[in-house]
Amino acid sequence: MTENKRSKPMTVLELQKMKLESRKITMLTAYDATFARLLDSSGVDVLLVGDSLGMVVQGKANTLSVTVDQMVYHGAAVSAATQRAHVTVDMPFMSYHISPEEAVRNAGRLVAEGGAHSVKLEGGKERAATIRAIVDAQIPVMGHVGLTPQSFHAQGGFRVQGRTEEAGQRVLEDALAVQEAGAWCIVLEGIPAPLAAEISAQLSIPTIGIGAGNGCDGQVLVIYDLLGMDEEFQPKFVRRYAEAGRLVRKAVGNYIEEVRSGSFPGEENSFKAAAKKRQHVAEAPQSGGGYGPSDTSAA
Ligand code: KIV
Repeated sequence: MTENKRSKPMTVLELQKMKLESRKITMLTAYDATFARLLDSSGVDVLLVGDSLGMVVQGKANTLSVTVDQMVYHGAAVSAATQRAHVTVDMPFMSYHISPEEAVRNAGRLVAEGGAHSVKLEGGKERAATIRAIVDAQIPVMGHVGLTPQSFHAQGGFRVQGRTEEAGQRVLEDALAVQEAGAWCIVLEGIPAPLAAEISAQLSIPTIGIGAGNGCDGQVLVIYDLLGMDEEFQPKFVRRYAEAGRLVRKAVGNYIEEVRSGSFPGEENSFKAAAKKRQHVAEAPQSGGGYGPSDTSAA
């Protein structure tokens, strides 16, 4: 059941309790205020301001060029429009690799300027000291192991990880190291379903899966994938809950047709002059809050 009436954000403690109570955690990406408001009021538990924005917002081939400033900008937009969901903001490539000190400074910016309730970073054993340093600075950390998109070159593209017994053991050890370092939760991406189920059973912190089967404590999807915004993109791990790409194309097609035929704007979309004195639209009093003329009356 969704809990839409909450007015306070979900805390990491409440989200961890959901694992103990066998209640699945729902997480979706959001990159702007409009989507954040929609998803938050739909009852999603966690909003992830993912560095996937490098691909779905900026149109790049991977996430590697995303900067801390960009994550701060999108984090602030999402957190401003969110009331009840927990907001996690991704630490981008190279913002936490150089030293724990630099990682803490960047994580601090995502919280203080970007409104994050926790930050997410990729990697296992090799990131344990960094996770510990950020947690020691009182910033909750979400881990991310398996297919880690920031390892695009090292992993040879977006490839499923942990397929052999040996490789699976390495993913398990990475997940245990992330938990041991103090992460409150961990994303398991692109690993075989039985491995994800085993990791979820061994870990006391919640696991959130993407391309990791049904045995995780929660699931995450990129919102544009869930909505079918890109009609060409249909990977195995995504289920489309709408055909929004087609819908947008249809709506915009109708708009173009109606502008060209002259049927938009209609009389109901147009302003009338004052009865006695002609008043130009631009001179009409503005009540604020909008980005166009404030007079919404049909008269
Ligand atoms: O950046 C992102 O959107 C992510 C999710 C796919 C887990 O890391």
